[in-house]
Amino acid sequence: MKVLISDKLEKQAVDILQAEGLQVDINTELTPEQLKEKIKGYDALIVRSKTKATKEIIDASDNLKVIGRAGVGVDNIDIPAATAKGIVVMNAPSGNTISAAEHAFALMMSLSRNIPYANSLLKNKKWEKKLLGVELNGKTIGVIGLGRVGSHMAKMAKGIGMKVIGYDPLITEDKASSVGVALVSLDEIFKTADFISLHVPRTPETKNLIGEDALNKMKKNVRIINCARGGVVDEDALYKALKEGKIAGAALDVFAQEPLLDSPLLELDNVIVTPHLGASTQEAQIKVAVDIANSIALALKEGKFNNALNLSQIKR
Ligand code: NAD
Ligand code: MLT
Repeated sequence: MKVLISDKLEKQAVDILQAEGLQVDINTELTPEQLKEKIKGYDALIVRSKTKATKEIIDASDNLKVIGRAGVGVDNIDIPAATAKGIVVMNAPSGNTISAAEHAFALMMSLSRNIPYANSLLKNKKWEKKLLGVELNGKTIGVIGLGRVGSHMAKMAKGIGMKVIGYDPLITEDKASSVGVALVSLDEIFKTADFISLHVPRTPETKNLIGEDALNKMKKNVRIINCARGGVVDEDALYKALKEGKIAGAALDVFAQEPLLDSPLLELDNVIVTPHLGASTQEAQIKVAVDIANSIALALKEGKFNNALNLSQIKR
């Protein structure tokens, strides 16, 4: 059986697949048109986030049984199109949890002490002692989305003496309190938090969750961190709120359109940006590659599906 890897993936994944007797082809530079042709004959496709597994590509496949995503977000895979063709979509949801939470935490710390801005000033020979930060200890953080990443972020924030409140309609009070979070309403977070960290998937409900209305309810000193998904924060509304001094700062790892190279947000000194680096650690990249390779091997060889996202909807 044949597996096509169309995005850069750690070598450990290839070793696992080959040890299971699977033929592995790696081709990370295919255009969508080329992938449409290339996909024919393959049993499995493994992607990260660069490959867009569109309906066109999925429909062009003739033997595909499974698509594996080395990571969490599957917004680059047309799941309904895969489901319609009986193709199972699986992700590797936990391998990059720690890295994503640590990146969000690093962004929060950088934001609170103006570190990227101070660094760029000094490298441009400006000794700016007047930059004034804020302490995190004793401050309130609102964590929106208390799944894997949000819960870890909450635990870390608690560990440095922050008061942690959270909003997640799908988790219980018990689960929240086990990670030190008091569940509150979204409005309560908007009105009281000094830091707001987003950890939700991008869905119709979370699109522009942080928009003009939400921003208008927030405290003037609030700082927002988005290391989850672009589009959850309305970037135009965020820019306006920052420009008008309605909020104090924002740190963004993810954007509505990626790569983001041209945005007024990039001109603001109180905005920190990173190019979707949340999962970019040596450890996370190995973990997601190993996890998805094991899942693909199990699916192809034994018909068992780990972390399948559409299995129940596939008519068999
Ligand atoms: P998860 O599924 O474990 O957690 C998501 C949580 O969001 C769930 O508990 C869910 O109940 C909650 N949620 C869903 N809709 C909500 C809503 N409307 N309001 C509040 N909460 C809601 O996912 P995760 O692994 O913790 O990942 C969280 C996000 O981080 C995802 O968007 C994922 O793609 C992203 N992520 C980004 C990076 C990165 O590189 N920046 C890395 C890993 C994960
Ligand atoms: C994910 O969803 O796993 C992260 O955003 C990281 C990535 O895109 O690889």
